[in-house]
Amino acid sequence: MKRILVTGGAGYIGSHTCVELMNAGHEVFIYDNFSNSSPIAIERVEKITGKAIRFIQGDILDQYLLENTIKASNCDTVIHFAGLKSVGESVKQPINYYENNVVGTLTLLKAMTNCNINKLVFSSSATVYGNPKFLPLTEDHPLSATNPYGNSKLIIEDILRDIHISSPDWSITILRYFNPVGAHSSGLIGEDPRGIPNNLMPYVAQVAIGRLAELTVFGNDYDTADGTGVRDYIHVSDLAKGHLKAIEQIGMPQCSEINLGTGVGYSVIDVINAFKRASNRDIPFRFAERRNGDIATCFADPKLAKEILGWEAELGIKEMCNDHWAWQHKNPEGYGVV
Ligand code: NAD
Ligand code: UFG
Repeated sequence: MKRILVTGGAGYIGSHTCVELMNAGHEVFIYDNFSNSSPIAIERVEKITGKAIRFIQGDILDQYLLENTIKASNCDTVIHFAGLKSVGESVKQPINYYENNVVGTLTLLKAMTNCNINKLVFSSSATVYGNPKFLPLTEDHPLSATNPYGNSKLIIEDILRDIHISSPDWSITILRYFNPVGAHSSGLIGEDPRGIPNNLMPYVAQVAIGRLAELTVFGNDYDTADGTGVRDYIHVSDLAKGHLKAIEQIGMPQCSEINLGTGVGYSVIDVINAFKRASNRDIPFRFAERRNGDIATCFADPKLAKEILGWEAELGIKEMCNDHWAWQHKNPEGYGVV
């Protein structure tokens, strides 16, 4: 049993990961400022697991509170989800993004160092591969960034690699997520974007439920089978189980980067069709210009995760859409209406 401090644990991926960790017998302590989440998510995780969760409302920029929380929770490991994640917003608010993501992570690392904790799992992203030079994307693909959000992940990865060089006893697992979608099979927790969603699946779900009128498909002239962008969508519960595996093997001095994806790419049209089947609703859409900064195709080589973590994704596009729809249908306003 490990005692794990989960920063950003009330968020989309964090809440699903807490379910898997708690079901496996680990103890979690959530640290979240609720800037992009709701405490209701924590209540729902308690309902799913039947266990109480300790949590504190706090900012990762607050080193004093972090250190006190690490001591009070008696944790031995940290999973660090907290951060800002919108690519478009990061272009408009670079200072906010670098401060929350980079300075926030540095503050956490200082707090961990002062408390003698050196086991960390960090949420990185496939965005660090930039425009793919080859596919599928292996972990040794060259790294680059095209926006402040992606750059913040790259900078943090570099900081973590440097820490491991200077203090080789640290155990750091950098997980590079592909496109997380779906929701817990209970329909009690899921993604609850504030305002108009930026990402495809939550947008499609809100069209299906009638909150939004139609989907805009960004580009139908890519070099893909149907001309629309192709991505490696991964069920959030599979992703959460990847964290459980990472936690179970963490401890040996190391710093590794591991893709968490399925290895399979689906186009925007594939997603629309799968979601239509899951929801039995129409999804009106129209084609528009490509979205700035988008790439044609992106999918993972997930072999290393199998080799190192003994993990592979089990759920396909059908389960992703079914579970995302169940969450949307049961919670049409997200956590806004209980
Ligand atoms: P999310 O916004 O749902 O969760 C992030 C959580 O962190 C939220 O609960 C938010 O309130 C909290 N938070 C933000 N800033 C904070 C701060 N300064 N102090 C304390 N708490 C803070 O996002 P998510 O989708 O669950 O993503 C989790 C992590 O995974 C992020 O680091 C994100 O960049 C990364 N990631 C997400 C995706 C994706 O598509 N969802 C893809 C790749 C990587
Ligand atoms: N798309 C549309 N219409 C929309 C939204 C998206 O056609 O309204 C298309 C995009 O053009 C793209 C595909 O759907 O072809 C997927 O777009 P998302 O915005 O859902 O996902 P991205 O691959 O652009 O980016 C996401 C996260 C990034 C992360 C990346 C890899 O937003 O932060 O996955 O993990 F870095």
